[in-house]
Amino acid sequence: MTNDSILSLTAFDDDALDKAFAALEQQAREAAAKIDGPEAVEAFRLEWLGRKQGRLTGVSGRWLKSAPAEAKKALGVRFNALKAKVEELLELAAGAGPNDAALKAEAIDITLPGTRRLTGAEHPITRTLNEIVSVFAALGYSVGVGPEVETDFYNFESMNFPPGHPARDTQDTLVVASQERRPQRDRLLLRTHTSPVQMRTMEQQPPPVRIVIPGKVHRNDAADATHSPIFHQVEGLCVDAHITFSDLKGTLDHAMKALFGSAVKTRFFPSFFPFTEPSADVQISCIFCGGKGCRKCKQSGWIELLGCGMVDPAVFAFAAEKQPAYDPTKVSGFAFGMGVERIAMMKYGISEIGQFYAGDVRFLGQFA
Ligand code: DAH
Repeated sequence: MTNDSILSLTAFDDDALDKAFAALEQQAREAAAKIDGPEAVEAFRLEWLGRKQGRLTGVSGRWLKSAPAEAKKALGVRFNALKAKVEELLELAAGAGPNDAALKAEAIDITLPGTRRLTGAEHPITRTLNEIVSVFAALGYSVGVGPEVETDFYNFESMNFPPGHPARDTQDTLVVASQERRPQRDRLLLRTHTSPVQMRTMEQQPPPVRIVIPGKVHRNDAADATHSPIFHQVEGLCVDAHITFSDLKGTLDHAMKALFGSAVKTRFFPSFFPFTEPSADVQISCIFCGGKGCRKCKQSGWIELLGCGMVDPAVFAFAAEKQPAYDPTKVSGFAFGMGVERIAMMKYGISEIGQFYAGDVRFLGQFA
């Protein structure tokens, strides 16, 4: 509708004026009701209140000018009322329009369940590792760590695996390339066990030592249901005057009961590790059948869990190069090493080691 559609007023009596203004107001109301956004608000403003082309300008121009003098006042009053009405309509539309849209965009349905943010949980390996460490912490052990990229000296030689010793073959690993010009003992490799941290610890402090060392280790082992080329161990070392094999047995028997329940029994089987003499494998009574014999323990009633032994004098001799107090004639000690994955698998009844590393929340969520 344009200004041309403003009809010429032919009569100026009150009735005629009321009718004419009522019709205009009605049109303004209808136009305002159709406003559906900020652009429509502006169009409405221009159409009705625009200074040059606006309809109210048109009304005042045509009607007021052509009105006889005695009708001007009545017309002016009605004109002002209409203008106030149109401004009010504009204000309402401007206020409500954009807010409506904004509200719609922001609208939330408070009856919907909220977005649940999952709480993180300790990974079962970390949890088991911490549990093992805390059993020994309660016995007065401190906690240490060492590098994952280790030298041949710490990983093998100082642990009494001399170059060419066949025991090295059981712990093949990745080695850092292009180190041929270095002496063998300085060459870097991914550590195959946490035992080298025994030597690092002894070099740093004189006896007595009681320490546990959790960490990640690497081996050239084919992955299967129970093996992974990367896994975790907790190492233990206790050195003092007069440490005996009985101390070793008592300590590990207590630790196994703390980890698997007080009904668990332990037994020590002769074994071999280059860095301990004598060496033993620790077996615990089968936690699945209580020792009666089942598939899990291959009907033996026992499960092999960790290695241990009395620290070999040759290891003390390496430590004594930096800390003379590790004189093998004056101190003795025991050491042990356990696989964290193996213990976690037993504690939680997990049959595939790969589950630990797959990152599947359906698995991990069970430990939350
Ligand atoms: N380092 C051994 C391994 O990885 C485990 C071990 C056995 C550690 C006996 C020890 C020990 O400290 O005394 O197979």
